[in-house]
Amino acid sequence: MEFLDKLVLPQSAEHLMLLHYLLIVTMFLFIPFVSVVFGGAAVSLYFRRKGISTGNSLYLRYAKDIIETLTLTKSSGIALGILPLLTAMLISVQLLHTSNIATDAFLFAAFLLITTGLILVYIFRYSQSFSELFQTMKDFKSTSNELNEIITKFSRSNTSLGAKSGGWGLIFLFLAIWTFITGITAATFSEVWGSAGAFSMLFSWQVLARVLFFIAAAFALTGASIFFSFFYLGGRKKIKNEEYKELVKNNALTITFAGAIILPIFLIINIYALPAYVLSKAVFAYALGALLLTFVVYHLLYGIGKLKSFNLSGSLFFVMMFAILSFIVQDQLALANATKQQSLVLSSQYDTYITALKVESAPAVAVSGEDVYKRICSACHQFDAKLVGPSYNETLPKYEGKVDQLVAFIRNPSKVNPAYPPMPNPGIRPDEAKAVAEYILSTYKK
Ligand code: HEC
Repeated sequence: MEFLDKLVLPQSAEHLMLLHYLLIVTMFLFIPFVSVVFGGAAVSLYFRRKGISTGNSLYLRYAKDIIETLTLTKSSGIALGILPLLTAMLISVQLLHTSNIATDAFLFAAFLLITTGLILVYIFRYSQSFSELFQTMKDFKSTSNELNEIITKFSRSNTSLGAKSGGWGLIFLFLAIWTFITGITAATFSEVWGSAGAFSMLFSWQVLARVLFFIAAAFALTGASIFFSFFYLGGRKKIKNEEYKELVKNNALTITFAGAIILPIFLIINIYALPAYVLSKAVFAYALGALLLTFVVYHLLYGIGKLKSFNLSGSLFFVMMFAILSFIVQDQLALANATKQQSLVLSSQYDTYITALKVESAPAVAVSGEDVYKRICSACHQFDAKLVGPSYNETLPKYEGKVDQLVAFIRNPSKVNPAYPPMPNPGIRPDEAKAVAEYILSTYKK
């Protein structure tokens, strides 16, 4: 991603902090959405297969309802799936500019994969609406045989399109999630991993544990979203068919529970995997928050499953969301801790950059060479005696008429005389160097 490096400017420490906050916001949009689309596509694909093989129309209806509710609209795919990832990539270019971590390349790959994956999932979604349409047309039984044949033909190719786009969509989404996690993990583990190859990163146990964690969280959130949209958002009245209601409830309970029950295990493994230099109190606090919220989720699931209190569906969804948000903050804090060093380098580059700008644009305040000499140089130099450094009377004659060379030496001293230690860089501004050079050159002769 070298072409992007050219866009990077040194930034102040405050700006870099702001970028970290922005990254958290983008993750708030991206992670829940992709989780639910991934989980929704998997569940929908499963019930579609089951529906086709058993001929049970309730399964087919559920497959279609799930994908329609959980993928929202096409534009939300762009707003919540594609754009946040692109933003995260650009932010990472700025944040990790000075390091050789391939995070931006991984995020770019994830961006391509997610775009493909989402397109396929939306095709899958529309193929199911078409299936319904074809079914209605078949039930209608036209008198024209020719028309019946055409309907059967299109219906068949639509079914195979649905199966293919759903399956491939799921695979692409999975690969996108995997590369995305590798990119973020590579930045967090940058100091331990150094310049490890892409494959050893993709298949490292830390990345694989995080992928499993993501999948578990994705299913838990998918289940909670099904409860939320089917039983909370006015859907309660919509479901009149008791058998269908039972199917939705049982399935949503199973996947929320299956996801939520393994979450704590992976949460702990992930904290354990983090290198010591990224741990801080806040990281632990947010991890603990995510853990406690997961326990609340169990409680709510019990209420819905055993006590049939469907009005808890809303709370279930929000608690699950907060658990995931808490985890995102924890992860991003770890990332910020891991990249502290790079941020320091970037912000100190910014400081020099700004000082240089100020010097150029500042109104010419006369700098006194004598002042600089007394303040800095006199610690090591006198005109007529050697101190730490040689006396000026001894060294300056060779600089007669060569002020520029003297200024260059003062700003960037090089080794000259083996009898002395090297002169350290006095760290003064160009105008100060010029003033002091003129001052000592005109003073030593007197
Ligand atoms: C910490 C001590 C120290 C300070 C402060 C210091 N110098 Fe030096 N300076 C030295 C030493 C040691 C040498 C001899 C270096 C050598 O010969 O390699 C030296 C050498 C020089 C020389 C001779 C270079 C030559 O070509 O032989 C000049 C001129 C000079 N310093 C100017 C300055 C000026 C002007 C300042 C203040 C802005 C300054 N120095 C501050 C230690 C210092």
